[in-house]
Amino acid sequence: MMLHIPQVLSKQQVAHCRQVMDAAQWVDGNITSGPQAALAKNNMQLPETAPEARQLGEMVLDALERSPLFISAALPLKVFPPLFNRYAGGQSFGIHVDNAIRGFPNADFRIRTDLSCTLFLAEPDEYDGGELIVEDTYGEHRARLPAGDMVLYPSTSLHRVTPVTRGARVASFFWLQSMVRDDGQRSMLFQLDTSIQQLVARLGNADAQVVQLTGIYHNLLRRWADS
Ligand code: NI
Repeated sequence: MMLHIPQVLSKQQVAHCRQVMDAAQWVDGNITSGPQAALAKNNMQLPETAPEARQLGEMVLDALERSPLFISAALPLKVFPPLFNRYAGGQSFGIHVDNAIRGFPNADFRIRTDLSCTLFLAEPDEYDGGELIVEDTYGEHRARLPAGDMVLYPSTSLHRVTPVTRGARVASFFWLQSMVRDDGQRSMLFQLDTSIQQLVARLGNADAQVVQLTGIYHNLLRRWADS
């Protein structure tokens, strides 16, 4: 499943990110790649421990905590500190799979990557190309979203970013470990939660069937979640 989460950051927050990023020092994006991805990857990144990256990363994490859609779909246990990248002048990222386990440098922090996230920080009309293409068992899914919008997709997928042939594509990217490891179980919980929320809007919280379904949701979560 590829999920579009609109307006994670406001346009003001995006403008703030861009200002900080424009003034920062960029390095070769391969600092965070495994050896196979390094062959495919051609972009620039803010160093993981750069103060600019950490400051903006906190802003992104705060915004995600306030997004019911993100929480419901991802059921996050641990979120990797967001990173920031930039593609320009024909740069691209060929087809690859993200490392299963990822640690943060010089910190006691390690996650299993269940979901990958890309938060777009440039408007689609600022650049050509730069499309994120994710391949799963249901074929190809494409994302090229307004600044401030995010896409969430299973880290098990093969994916790539097409060459940026005009302007610059800047984004935040990161991974998370979900409380529910299995994609299928997590997707079912998301669908059930979404349906319950729609029923609540029609029938209210106190409706007997709404209460029963809410119980089933929590009992499935209890069965499948690690916390
Ligand atoms: Ni990737």
